[in-house]
Amino acid sequence: MAQATNGTEPPPTEEELSAARLRLAVEGPVARVTISRPDRRNAMTGRTWTTLARIGRTLPDDVRVVVIDGDGDIFSAGIDLGMFSPEGVDGERSMVAGLADGTSGEAEVEDYIAGLQEGFLWLRRPDLVTVAAVRGHAIGAGFQLALSCDIRILADDAQLCMKEPALGLVPDLTGTKPLVDIVGVNRAVEICLTARRVGAEEARDLGLAELVVAADELPGAVDDAVAALLATNREAATATKALLQQAAGNTLGQQAEAERRAQTARLTALARSTARGEG
Ligand code: CAA
Repeated sequence: MAQATNGTEPPPTEEELSAARLRLAVEGPVARVTISRPDRRNAMTGRTWTTLARIGRTLPDDVRVVVIDGDGDIFSAGIDLGMFSPEGVDGERSMVAGLADGTSGEAEVEDYIAGLQEGFLWLRRPDLVTVAAVRGHAIGAGFQLALSCDIRILADDAQLCMKEPALGLVPDLTGTKPLVDIVGVNRAVEICLTARRVGAEEARDLGLAELVVAADELPGAVDDAVAALLATNREAATATKALLQQAAGNTLGQQAEAERRAQTARLTALARSTARGEG
């Protein structure tokens, strides 16, 4: 079980993970998070995402790679549609709580959504590499969760769908930026506003999948990717991910400066470790 790393907050208990429809297995440098609600096609609720955020906050420091997958032959059918009913799901706050009669203000709803987005944002942390292993459908929030990861490995039966606009909603779980970064605004508009399913081969062609394999080869392909990711120096991997993440927003000059700064820090660390006889 994960140990708290932020000093005060404990990691979620087995009961809390189960209530959030998640499983967590931490083995040394690898954490595996599984969305686990097979009878509802791994549909997720707000609690799934607040618990995901807590997993991120309380991961042991030695975890370097996080793999996210779904139980069975589906990644996730997205948000539990019951979250849009006034009564919500299993007593959880409904997405529309207090909106019809105005007892919830806009700021309160935005704060609530911000808390849910935390479950997705931490997957971009430079000190982690996050891998989505996708079988079958990844719909709505499921697609956005996969988009939040650094690397997507898809089974050939995978289907990605941004369903939100078809439901009268927008994708709000931090998926729009990676989608546009990967496929461009025009293709993102087409994918979102048609809410069509993007199959595995097309996803690979569009850059939405780094790798597509036969469904029965997915676990092995993920294990191979994890092993390759763990073979690099951790500090260099963290600094490189941070560099790559800022590249799109930087001018060439700014990026060259960032590279110089990061490399100087790496060279200093390597030189000191050699001087201490650790090299
Ligand atoms: N929420 C709640 N229950 C769901 C669900 C969901 N998102 N998806 C599936 N289920 C339930 C079904 O109601 C069904 O329950 P019963 O056995 O009680 O009838 C059970 O799971 C099995 O579902 P299907 O029989 O439909 O399974 P399938 O294999 O034929 O189809 C599917 C799978 C294509 C995922 C289909 O279930 C589906 O389209 N689900 C809805 C997807 C959806 O619209 N998700 C919301 C996207 S928007 C979002 O996620 C983000 C946001 O904030 C708006």
